[in-house]
Amino acid sequence: MIENKRVLLIVSGGIAAFKALDVIRLLKKKGVSTPVILTKAAQEFVTPLTCSVLSGEKVYTDLFSLNDELEMGHIELSRDADLIVVVPATADLMAKMAHGICDDLATTTLLATDKDIIFAPAMNIRMWEHAATQRNLISLLADGHKAVGPVEGEMACGEYGYGRMSEPEDIVGAIETYFQKAKPLAGKKILITAGPTHEPIDPVRVIANLSSGKQGYAIAQAAYDAGADVTLISGPVSLNPPLGVKVIKVQTAEQMLQHTQNSLPADIAIFTAAVADWRVENPAEEKVKKTAGKLGFDLNFVENPDILATIAQDITRRPELVIGFAAETEKVIENAIAKRAKKQCDWIIANDVSPETGIMGGDKNKVHIIKAAQQNAWDEMPKTAVAKKLIDEIIHHFKIEARDA
Ligand code: C5P
Repeated sequence: MIENKRVLLIVSGGIAAFKALDVIRLLKKKGVSTPVILTKAAQEFVTPLTCSVLSGEKVYTDLFSLNDELEMGHIELSRDADLIVVVPATADLMAKMAHGICDDLATTTLLATDKDIIFAPAMNIRMWEHAATQRNLISLLADGHKAVGPVEGEMACGEYGYGRMSEPEDIVGAIETYFQKAKPLAGKKILITAGPTHEPIDPVRVIANLSSGKQGYAIAQAAYDAGADVTLISGPVSLNPPLGVKVIKVQTAEQMLQHTQNSLPADIAIFTAAVADWRVENPAEEKVKKTAGKLGFDLNFVENPDILATIAQDITRRPELVIGFAAETEKVIENAIAKRAKKQCDWIIANDVSPETGIMGGDKNKVHIIKAAQQNAWDEMPKTAVAKKLIDEIIHHFKIEARDA
């Protein structure tokens, strides 16, 4: 599928640069040619010679090299490529890309290209979480570039958290997905909510639920793999962001609604989140003290907005296909059918989340899909398989729509 493609690899200077060598090796094995540009800092971690030996290609480092410019200038380098992959993308390189700064061969090529760019961020967790990096990330995604990772894990600096670069196999997987021929959802924008919401009681305590977010994240990945432009609005979960998906992290139901509305218009919206129905009316500003025998203050609850119902009933901006989930512990189908009518969504995916099913937080799911005129029970299968089947169902729906139109 990716044989004979030409992927221009841009390696910037972080400790994860050594993993770029594995990316080159894996791509070479698959018959992909990989010319490489190394930034000055990258050369502190890997040498041009190593990259050249592994890729069997010339390695470029200098914007003002007379020889290189005569042979192949930076414009040609990008013109010749089918795709550009930045591995690793340091905080510095992301910042330069986001602001159009071009002060070396790598950044000049990135600005001069009209090819798609996949970037694999890698940095210390604090640098990743810094407001500046998050702003840059949003700009880069809005510019149409695609992120792979970062993932959660141990870092070279000894810390643990988000910022670790995706593994070379996953980066190559994202490249393969990019070149996949069948992209039936290309041009469709999909919004997905996932995970629980956390409703604050005081600065350190929340009302939460056991949703893991696994089903929603799997749907986001399957939708992206099918070519959709996917925005995932996620409550607090400990899952790696799906490759190529724009993830917006939120805490509360109100934030989830706001970001969902801000992300409209969309063609399809899928609401997998386990949104808290209630929030504390006046969360305490300071940590509530323990008072002997009873809670130190009264909790008053107010109802949270119903995100699914709000979007499904939005007359001007309703996505063409709105899908809800119904996690039930009794009368699963009956309750889900009623929910579909009440919220006015098109389809409901119903599942039994009684503790004995192991579905909540587990890797498998057993669902019923409920539409206006029909309902089908799907066999128990991994959540990733439910995701693919649902995406197939959506593809089928749009094909029928297209034929009827
Ligand atoms: O009413 P219930 O919570 O069972 O409805 C489940 C469906 O509604 C799910 O798709 C869930 O994501 C969505 N929902 C929502 N906002 C709420 C409550 C539920 O979007 N406040």
